[in-house]
Amino acid sequence: MPTRHSAIGVFDSGIGGLTVFRELLKILPRESVLYLGDTARVPYGSKSRETVLKFSTENVLFLLRHDVKLIIVACHTASSFGLPFLEKHFKHPIMGVIEPGVETALATTRSGRIGVIGTQATVGSEAYLHSFSRRDPAVKVTQAACPLFVPLVEEGRLNDSITRQVAQRYLKPLIRARVDTLILGCTHYPLLKRTITRVMGPKVRLIDSARQVALKAKGVLEGLQLNTPLRDGGAPLRRFFVTDEPRHFEALSRRFLRQRLGDVSKVDVAG
Ligand code: DGL
Repeated sequence: MPTRHSAIGVFDSGIGGLTVFRELLKILPRESVLYLGDTARVPYGSKSRETVLKFSTENVLFLLRHDVKLIIVACHTASSFGLPFLEKHFKHPIMGVIEPGVETALATTRSGRIGVIGTQATVGSEAYLHSFSRRDPAVKVTQAACPLFVPLVEEGRLNDSITRQVAQRYLKPLIRARVDTLILGCTHYPLLKRTITRVMGPKVRLIDSARQVALKAKGVLEGLQLNTPLRDGGAPLRRFFVTDEPRHFEALSRRFLRQRLGDVSKVDVAG
């Protein structure tokens, strides 16, 4: 049985979910957090629904072996394909990254024209489209897949001219649709905010769902009365698990987290 002292478990296809981890540290500094990056099987964004569901199920089973009170699916691809399935199959509290982004976009847009960018899988799943049409069928949503953004971020090309050219090509349909709000529907895209703003123009509001996810996690824990009390004694635990050797993850993590990681262990999650 999870208690207040159990950890929050976060999983992602690899490194990108550290954008969510970083916000969790800010909003819930007293909570212990376990992070699983499935670095051996990344990327998920070009894989089929069936494969992503299998990987996501194994990731959840791994986290459940570690006394977690809430599981956050930090990966947009895994959330798009897998969240309803995971919610149905596991009784544990579990949340994804799609709904918090949609809620914020709806509260932000003035024109009702909203853009969504993500991996091929996220865009193809239409998870964002379904969520918008459930909540407000009047908004007009334009989507675009940006598959080269993930490798560009991992190569550290956050603000250079190649990235800008790629962004100009990918974002054209969104400029044409005159969106006033753009959801960064992938773990890596918050690191490209500057380039995306240069291409879209300063008036377009970018929705970084990582912060909204952390705020929602706070609300869920309070609702379940499983939040760690503020004046609790011991230091919160931070642990990182990866499915490939940790060196690459540790090196890249500085870009995502801007601080040193704690312990990173290699694990096998495949059952
Ligand atoms: N974490 C993935 C996402 O947010 C991006 C990387 C991948 O394709 O696995 O969709």
